[in-house]
Order: sequence, then structure tokens, then C-alpha cells
Amino acid sequence: MTGVTATAHCLELSAFPTSPYYARVYVQRVLEGWRRDDLVETARLVASELVSNAVKATVPRPASAAAARTSPDHVRLDLYRAGEAVVLRVWDASRTPPVLRSPGRDDEDGRGLHLVDLLASDWGYHRPRSGGKIVWCVLAAPSAG
Ligand SMILES: Nc1ncnc2c1ncn2[C@@H]1O[C@H](COP(=O)(O)OP(=O)(O)O)[C@@H](O)[C@H]1O
Ligand SMILES: [Mg+2]
Repeated sequence: MTGVTATAHCLELSAFPTSPYYARVYVQRVLEGWRRDDLVETARLVASELVSNAVKATVPRPASAAAARTSPDHVRLDLYRAGEAVVLRVWDASRTPPVLRSPGRDDEDGRGLHLVDLLASDWGYHRPRSGGKIVWCVLAAPSAG
């Protein structure tokens, strides 16, 4: 990709309910290191929602070691800079795609991707040959967006 200005920072997490918390802490540290305080709150929110979805999509590790190799119980988050924007990606082992829903006023579910859709300047997903899928989003500086 043109305009990439930094190597990705990558965090691998076990698929636990606490993982969104660690994702929030991690992206905050990375963005502060890049002096992108303007994106910290947005990135924390988006990372939290994407990691939460990734954890939910991850099937618990099967008992046999052979099965565990094809069904890993971890999720992965990475961040890199692309010019003035920051790209945040979350991998999980499920091939099932994310689905943007239109939550009603009283719906508790279906808000995560809606938030991502509102906050990110672009987002999507792809399924790498190596397995699983990556949900990605592009975060642009507030003034640019
Ligand atoms: N990483 C993912 N893997 C598989 N399905 C996903 C993933 N992320 C989102 N989805 C699907 O998209 C739907 C909408 O996600 P979201 O808006 O975060 O709502 P919620 O998590 O409350 O269901 C989920 O219910 C799920 O069906
Ligand atoms: Mg969600």
C-alpha cells in the first residue's frame, strides 16, 4: 500500500472476555507513541468492538491437539500508519463475515459495527488464504474527516 509510514504493531490475545480491555490499553499506548492523541478515543472504541466480535466468533479450543491447530483460540490485532490515517485490523479464526445491522432504539445487539461504520472513514473484511478473516478499518484525523 502506498503511504505506509510505519511497521505494524501487533498484539495477539487469547479469545477471552477480557481481551477487548487489553486491546483498548494497547491501541492507546501505540497511538500515544505515534503522537496521535487525536485518534486515541476512536481507536479504543473501534478496537474494543472489533476484538469483542472476534472473541465471540472464536470457537473454543477443541480437546484434541490436532483439532486445536486448525481451530486456534486466539485473535490478533495490528495497527499501522498510512499517511495521516491509521489502519486497525483484527484477525479471528472464523470465516464468517461481519454483518452491519441497523439496531433499533432499544436493541442492545448490533451496535458494534454500526459504531465502527460511523467512526471509521472506511472499513471492510477479507479472508486470507492462510485462514480466518481480517476485519479492518481506516481511522482518519478528525479534522480530515
Ligand atoms: N468477527 C466476526 N466474525 C463473525 N461474525 C461477526 C464478526 N463481527 C461481527 N459479526 C457479525 O455481525 C453482527 C453484528 O456485529 P455487531 O454490530 O458488533 O453486533 P453484536 O456484536 O452486538 O452482535 C454480529 O451479530 C455477527 O453476526
Ligand atoms: Mg459486537
